Amino acid sequence: MKTVDINNIKIIIVDNYEQMSKKAAAMIEAQVLLKRNSVLGLATGSTPEGMYQELVKKYQENEVNFQDVTTFNLDEYYPIASDSPQSYAYYMHEHFFKHVNVREHYQNIPNGSNTNVEETCQAYDRAIEASGNIDLQILGIGTNGHIGFNEPDVKFEAGTHLVELDEETIEANARFFEHIEDVPKQALSMGIRNIMHSKKIILMASGQNKAKAIRAMLKGPVTPELPASILQLHQDVTLIIDEAAAGEL
Ligand code: GLP
Repeated sequence: MKTVDINNIKIIIVDNYEQMSKKAAAMIEAQVLLKRNSVLGLATGSTPEGMYQELVKKYQENEVNFQDVTTFNLDEYYPIASDSPQSYAYYMHEHFFKHVNVREHYQNIPNGSNTNVEETCQAYDRAIEASGNIDLQILGIGTNGHIGFNEPDVKFEAGTHLVELDEETIEANARFFEHIEDVPKQALSMGIRNIMHSKKIILMASGQNKAKAIRAMLKGPVTPELPASILQLHQDVTLIIDEAAAGEL
């Protein structure tokens, strides 16, 4: 393991995916031990799968208890039914919620099936604020530098909003669907304000295909064209990345 700081961001470089997953799980465990009723911001995708596995193991071994924890997921496809196997609601249930004791009522995911998008987004922002904001937000990163589903744009979006997905994102996520045409073209995502109001942020990345985005977010200008670059302005961000993702630093 190596540690280095770049532009106010703490970086932990580990050998591989497994070590990244263990480190991230250890940090969530510590967060919940220090504050039992923590508000956790959660991510989906391939990157955090190993982290959820580690957390499930810790829960089964009675090392951590999620009884008083509240969770907010970053994003969800739109439109999508929550019981569709490609929905992030389904992902969260399969990888985490069905194995641990986060109370159902305390699990929040943007509702991808409500036709009133405005209402869904505003309700999500209100719920995050009412919880006192997120204590620890977990992020992955897209190959184009997106966080949540905040795609490269000419401006940063503040609150939860409807997003037109980039062609690059649709292609990257097509592996979870039978045909690329099945990937929804839109999504609901927490905005940059929601993410920046989190007290602590952990961003995980593994693999060479993330190296360019990691370099740009750390060393490039802060710009909505590379949404993750905004994290340079947050006071408590830790990156946990493997050697391959750190390959261009
Ligand atoms: C997805 C998600 C993001 C995720 C990113 C990377 O589209 N909306 O929250 O961090 O893209 O995904 P993966 O971890 O599968 O590479």
